[in-house]
Amino acid sequence: MKAYHITGTDGLASLKQVELPSPAPGHGKVRIRIRAVSLNYRDYMNVCGIRGVTGPVPRIPCSDGAGEIVELGEGVTDWKKGDRVVVPFMPTWLDGGFTQAHAGQALGGAVDGLLCEEACLPAASLLGIPKHLSFEEAATLPCAAVTAWDALMVRGGLQAGESVLVLGSGGVSVFALQFAKMAGARVLAISSSDDKAARLKEMGAEAVHNYRQDPAWDDWALAQTGGLGVDKVIEIGGPETLNRSIKATRFGGHIALIGVLTGTAGDVQTVGILRKGIRLDGVYVGSRAMFAQMLKAITQAKMRPVVDSAFDFKDAVPAFEHIASGRHFGKIVIRL
Ligand SMILES: NC(=O)c1ccc[n+]([C@@H]2O[C@H](COP(=O)([O-])OP(=O)(O)OC[C@H]3O[C@@H](n4cnc5c(N)ncnc54)[C@H](OP(=O)(O)O)[C@@H]3O)[C@@H](O)[C@H]2O)c1
Repeated sequence: MKAYHITGTDGLASLKQVELPSPAPGHGKVRIRIRAVSLNYRDYMNVCGIRGVTGPVPRIPCSDGAGEIVELGEGVTDWKKGDRVVVPFMPTWLDGGFTQAHAGQALGGAVDGLLCEEACLPAASLLGIPKHLSFEEAATLPCAAVTAWDALMVRGGLQAGESVLVLGSGGVSVFALQFAKMAGARVLAISSSDDKAARLKEMGAEAVHNYRQDPAWDDWALAQTGGLGVDKVIEIGGPETLNRSIKATRFGGHIALIGVLTGTAGDVQTVGILRKGIRLDGVYVGSRAMFAQMLKAITQAKMRPVVDSAFDFKDAVPAFEHIASGRHFGKIVIRL
């Protein structure tokens, strides 16, 4: 089968297409013909070894994939050949709390990922793709969508009528906007681009602030909420955005700390968190049980992920360049 390997530490130049033997499913596993993979910023960091995100090489990158079952391993009775399935980010995290052991099984990190034609995975970890979604749409869900769902609906306990501030228009933030609207929440957003701001508004954001033209988006969010602050923040920036997120959050509000786009360490206004009784919650994707619940909601609402662009398998490097550029809106997909 065809696959990509991260072969070293030369950035995207170390991403090479290779031929590998077709994997055989062991007991309790199935072989999946991968049909689409979506990119997350984390995959780009893994390929390029950014901010210490490196694993052993060679390594097949990418956590998010969808495809069809082509072979059943011994003991598998719940699936049949031809079933359309999507693969969770951490196939061992079925339910319950997050553990270090699950983190060590994140696809495309410590273990091989899905930028390959075929993969063998535990049958019990897989989920069926909702009928209204294509492989490409389903492949966008495992990391960004489950993270947004966990952040808002599980950890955040979002209620109808509450306000949500989303940062930017990447994969996680666009899903957060969609789930927040689905739940009857009010969405405020910030973006570096007026064109993207217009699209966020089309999708239901009530107001959007251009943070490049005016970096004081914390004051803007306070003004939008009568000086009180928002109920929930989808914090994907990290050190350069977190203090503004703290200022923009109401007393007793919730910040889902998700991203590291501006770095992995920095000064944090700890007193703001304490004084306002903010719940600052580190979120690392979510369990299969959360994924299953999210799929029910997506099916019920006939929600469709926003696919920015789809690249052919041979164009994996341009696809990674596209996510690095930040020009995208929503998710970038590679077709297999
Ligand atoms: N913890 C987890 O489980 C988890 C899961 C998924 C992702 N993540 C992390 O979350 C972050 C976002 O991931 P993603 O896949 O959604 O990335 P992405 O699709 O590449 O989205 C990036 C977008 O974020 C916005 N952005 C960048 N810098 C910003 C800043 N300083 N202030 C406000 N917005 C900014 C930009 O939107 P505009 O162009 O509109 O400005 C940019 O297009 C990454 O750090 C990723 O590693 C974590």
